Amino acid sequence: MFGLTGQVHYPLTSKEGWGEFVAQYIEAPPLLPPAAVQRLDPAGFEDYQRQRREHHARLVIVSTPTIRHIAATGRKRILLNQHQTSARRGLIVSGPSGTGKSTSITQLGKNFEQLTRRRQPHQAGLLPVVYVTVPPAATPKMLAVEFARFIGLPLPARFSQVEITNQVCDLLCTLGTRLVLLDEIHNMDIGTRIGAEAADQIKYLSERIPATFVLAGVDVDGGGLFAGRRGGQIASRYTLIPTRPFAHKTSADQNAWRSLVATLEQALRLHAHKPGTLLGLESYLHQRTGGRIGSLSQLIREAAFVAVAATTEKITRKSLDAVDLDLSAEVQDPQRTRRRRAPATAR
Ligand SMILES: Nc1ncnc2c1ncn2[C@@H]1O[C@H](COP(=O)(O)OP(=O)(O)OP(=O)(O)O)[C@@H](O)[C@H]1O
Ligand SMILES: [Mg+2]
Repeated sequence: MFGLTGQVHYPLTSKEGWGEFVAQYIEAPPLLPPAAVQRLDPAGFEDYQRQRREHHARLVIVSTPTIRHIAATGRKRILLNQHQTSARRGLIVSGPSGTGKSTSITQLGKNFEQLTRRRQPHQAGLLPVVYVTVPPAATPKMLAVEFARFIGLPLPARFSQVEITNQVCDLLCTLGTRLVLLDEIHNMDIGTRIGAEAADQIKYLSERIPATFVLAGVDVDGGGLFAGRRGGQIASRYTLIPTRPFAHKTSADQNAWRSLVATLEQALRLHAHKPGTLLGLESYLHQRTGGRIGSLSQLIREAAFVAVAATTEKITRKSLDAVDLDLSAEVQDPQRTRRRRAPATAR
């Protein structure tokens, strides 16, 4: 829970961590002219370097088509649901890993909560948004416990599933929760008895809490979530929003990818980086990452981190080549797979 600077950091799946995230407004640090860097005393220089390291570690949130789509559909759904007493409709965001599902739904939650707090500035005790993740092999009780943990509700060990569920629902109604974000729902397999009971619990919670439910998980549309009687009920209550890696076929695809690369490149704070270098490498970057925003972000952030640490202060094709990406990106890049298989002497 403690960060490098000694500050306390709570997980996003707690009301304290979520509150920090909603209140967070991060400005990119300035890139000082070389003469100004020279004038910094050692403490000032270390602070300058730390700011740039931290900035590159998180970079920026880009308004991608996925973010925009989920924001627009989510806002509309929340508004429509406010006048529904039952059968509120929700969203399910489903797609491969690293395609921006969690980022998109948490941004939706952040924007909605900021708007709610601006409109109701005197109601500090409100909890407009809840963000929980489904634990592996979740039982209905485990799900209720995750909600209780987010709220910070003390849970005596003797509490039954019904008692926890009731407390959670009553409290969330009182606290004015209007949006429930439920991430990692692929941890729930409704083909098993426990998974099916967990899915029923979500349905029950969504009936008792007058909120819009937004669910997200890895490829859950093909995983039987919509199969059978239970699946049919889920399908009729939720709209599916698929997420995909960026494609690179049509000129529209390529423009969307280039725009993403350009935005990330503009966010860099490196002294010797030649603007447009990454944009010039956009095809290579697509091949390296398979168009996954998660892999692209990791690649650029790591190369930027190395550029500051090694004082090269720039990202080049060579420095990008030196970054080892996540396995899903590496296995789909045929050139790198071949190189990894080749013995070291043949390289
Ligand atoms: N809109 C965005 N702008 C900038 N970076 C983004 C954006 N969306 C995602 N990323 C980056 O990609 C990484 C992966 O995104 P995210 O965690 O949202 O994907 P996911 O689909 O939820 O993945 P998983 O299925 O593994 O949970 C994030 O840590 C973030 O660095
Ligand atoms: Mg995720």
